[in-house]
Amino acid sequence: MTEGAILDAAARLEAGALVAFPTETVYGLGADAENPAAVAAIYAAKGRPQDHPVIVHVAPGADLDYWAAELPDEARKLAQAFWPGPLTMIVKRNAHIPDAVSGGQDTVGIRCPSHPVAMALLAAFKGGRGGVAAPSANKFGNVSPTTAQHVRDEFNEEAGAGAITVLDGGSSQVGIESTIVDLSRLATHGPVLLRPGHIGAAEIAAVIGAMPAAPDAAAPRASGTLESHYAPKAPVALADTGRLPGLLTTLAGRGRSVAVIRYSPMLVQASAQELLPSDPAGYAFGLYAALRTMDRAGVELILVETPPQHDAWLGINDRLRRAAFGSAGIVDQFLAG
Ligand code: TXA
Ligand code: MG
Repeated sequence: MTEGAILDAAARLEAGALVAFPTETVYGLGADAENPAAVAAIYAAKGRPQDHPVIVHVAPGADLDYWAAELPDEARKLAQAFWPGPLTMIVKRNAHIPDAVSGGQDTVGIRCPSHPVAMALLAAFKGGRGGVAAPSANKFGNVSPTTAQHVRDEFNEEAGAGAITVLDGGSSQVGIESTIVDLSRLATHGPVLLRPGHIGAAEIAAVIGAMPAAPDAAAPRASGTLESHYAPKAPVALADTGRLPGLLTTLAGRGRSVAVIRYSPMLVQASAQELLPSDPAGYAFGLYAALRTMDRAGVELILVETPPQHDAWLGINDRLRRAAFGSAGIVDQFLAG
């Protein structure tokens, strides 16, 4: 990645075009957050409903009071502790922030990513004073991309036609989307964990002295909280470690083509398989690429070994539960059929 390519991408963003760029979590599909037409183009490219808010990405040292109407102390402390890094904060938005960014809500999500290419792009864009609105660079509902090739696979046509510029910054190191903490209703609700991720609730609590709660029904809409999110094309089901080998043998015996993603080093019988690291950071790094690879194998089912249930695996279990949501009962169906 040359400096010229980054400057060129920043100029494109300033001109209202879309640029896909690497972050440490996943790749984002970016547009000038203050250009409603450019933000609308993101929604159109993704096939995403217009009322879903997008995260505004800012450069290190950005003036957060420009974006936030009321910036609580908690937000300053969390930015100090975790930025640049995989944490998004939801705060009350300033009146001049376009509706398109916030999905019409009175809040805005802000994040300062740590990937060097993202930081260079944000530093170059509007001299470091702008915000880049960027959801994950995938079609609505699909698995988030963690490489530039994943982005090209998602937006083949648009990238080919030059409508989307793709910056290649290698593999995203975290591998799952940022932790989202809602600080917009502190007085009434305290901090709320809208999406678990690499930065855990306990780490947040250690900085602000209050444990973020799970969202209730009144929490702001977050598309990442839609149950159907992060799903590959093949149905996904989870199976406990002890049950996995026998289940695979039975399914193979019934002529079912099954891919398996596991972290335990056991021998299994499957049409395709991926062994991920048994530590949560390594597992998260490889998960989305593994789901895409297994999907490409053209199997009838992707069976995932249920990961450990400790806190460090919360973000991973959250994404897997969503990936499997639309396929509840599929294994029983295959066993009965
Ligand atoms: O790691 C990430 O956060 C990646 C990279 C590109 O930064 N971005 C990402 O964006 O995952 P997206 O749009 O796929 O997910 C952002 C989530 C959505 O669930 C959205 O609804 C929520 O953040 N969100 C954004 N602004 C919000 C707001 N003002 N209130 C509530 N939720 C918000
Ligand atoms: Mg997304």
